[in-house]
Amino acid sequence: MPDSSSKKPARKSPYTADRGIPGAFEGETVTRRNFMTGGALAAGGIATAAFALPALGFALGPLFEDSQPERWQDVGSESEFNDETYVSSVINLVPEIGEPGKTTVYIRRVNPDLDGDTQAIKDQPYVVISTRCMHLGCPVRYIQASARFVCPCHGGVYDFEGKVEGGPPVRPLDRFYTRTRAGRVEVGDRFSVNSELERFSPRDPSNWVDGLWQYIYPSRPTI
Ligand code: FES
Repeated sequence: MPDSSSKKPARKSPYTADRGIPGAFEGETVTRRNFMTGGALAAGGIATAAFALPALGFALGPLFEDSQPERWQDVGSESEFNDETYVSSVINLVPEIGEPGKTTVYIRRVNPDLDGDTQAIKDQPYVVISTRCMHLGCPVRYIQASARFVCPCHGGVYDFEGKVEGGPPVRPLDRFYTRTRAGRVEVGDRFSVNSELERFSPRDPSNWVDGLWQYIYPSRPTI
């Protein structure tokens, strides 16, 4: 005689009508209430993901960036530059498009007395400052007499290191990676810096990179 204690419990019917659920329909396996609740939760999850995933991508993207410049441009021999003032030079940010890709940069040798040990100059023999204003992108000029960069559009002023000293710009002037090869100075990719002169992947003008702003404004290496 079989042991009654090993008897399997009766299987629950998949049909809502058999389970005595109020308002059940014949042949229905999910109640309308459960169906609507599940649908609302799924729609909420999709909407949340639509906002959260891009934000997560912006925040984590820079971690996977390759920080090594891919293209280097020769800007002259080392003897053409000094560590006391800037010398202007023209580089082409987008050689594929020719003249429109050209821009002026200001170059000087790193000077430990002036530059300290900020991250922006780590492993960099030269300081190369971008002339694109960090307010709305107008071209800035270096004024030798005052040792400052000045923007003609809305009065932005930057000090000798390119840090904002006055006007509406939101962060210091961008810089470029540098290296020397056989006595020649070469300029690589652009990078952005925050008010402490820490490096960031390139951002557009008017994008803050201090504090949480670095996650809100994604990298956009446009020219
Ligand atoms: S674009 Fe330079 S201050 Fe506005």
